[in-house]
Amino acid sequence: MIGVFDSGFGGLTVLRALVDALPDRQFVYLGDHRAATYGNRSRDEIYDLARHAMEELFGLDCRLIVVACNTVAATSLRRLQREWLPACHPDRRILGVLVPMVEAITGVPWMADLPTRPIAGRKQTIAVFATRQTVLSNAFPVEIGKRAPEVTVVQQACPKLASLIEAGAAPADMAVLVRRYVEAMMDQLQGHAPDVVMLGCTHYPLVADLFSAALPRGIEILSQPTLVARSLTAYLAHHPEFDDCGDVRPPLFFTSGEPDIVSRLGSQFFGRPVIFRTIGQTRTPAIRESIAI
Ligand code: DGL
Repeated sequence: MIGVFDSGFGGLTVLRALVDALPDRQFVYLGDHRAATYGNRSRDEIYDLARHAMEELFGLDCRLIVVACNTVAATSLRRLQREWLPACHPDRRILGVLVPMVEAITGVPWMADLPTRPIAGRKQTIAVFATRQTVLSNAFPVEIGKRAPEVTVVQQACPKLASLIEAGAAPADMAVLVRRYVEAMMDQLQGHAPDVVMLGCTHYPLVADLFSAALPRGIEILSQPTLVARSLTAYLAHHPEFDDCGDVRPPLFFTSGEPDIVSRLGSQFFGRPVIFRTIGQTRTPAIRESIAI
């Protein structure tokens, strides 16, 4: 089973792409809706929350987890992979959503030798919209800069957007906010439009139409869910140890929040009816049996 984790609803955008790309895999989704959103929390808090969520998913027998949250990937993933995993779960793996984005933008595989000089003729400007902690981490500019120093990266924090999406706010209210963030990004570029926009928070594809409407026409918006799905497909082809045995069923959905509310909004965001269960309840044998984990 493959776990997919996000602070809340955002990871559903990634899960949707994963299920479409890998229909023969069993996925389990966990949204930490009780603690959402993560983007304005401290790095230590984000690390602790993420580690706890990883434990929950490993407890459901996931051997591989995709952290479908840029905030966790940018602030905590390296620490989870290098310190916690080898010490506590050496046979399990955690992947993030940052690597596929950086590889797609730079055209340089993550583990490749880094280029020693800029590629002549390629001078792109990329605008990254993300949470406050993702922006503060500088993960995108640093990792892109190592591989493609000729690319200019402009970051724009959108500190209120994920919370409004989590709350199911009216599109008109969110449109005002998105326009403000786009204007702030354009100010940073002194009115010059970027070549490419990256929605560096998995919540934002849920309001991609608002970004399209607010941005100057003709700017490419990279699809993180599609890129993550492509990358996981390639990873699994090289890692048969994560092959599933047994029947594949529709994804299972868990939340640390209020399941009825989360199921209603989650169905809307996922695009088909889904039923979330409370994560803690799976620890009781009766519930584990009823959902056949
Ligand atoms: N969806 C998450 C991300 O990709 C986090 C949003 C939040 O919890 O603030 O960054």
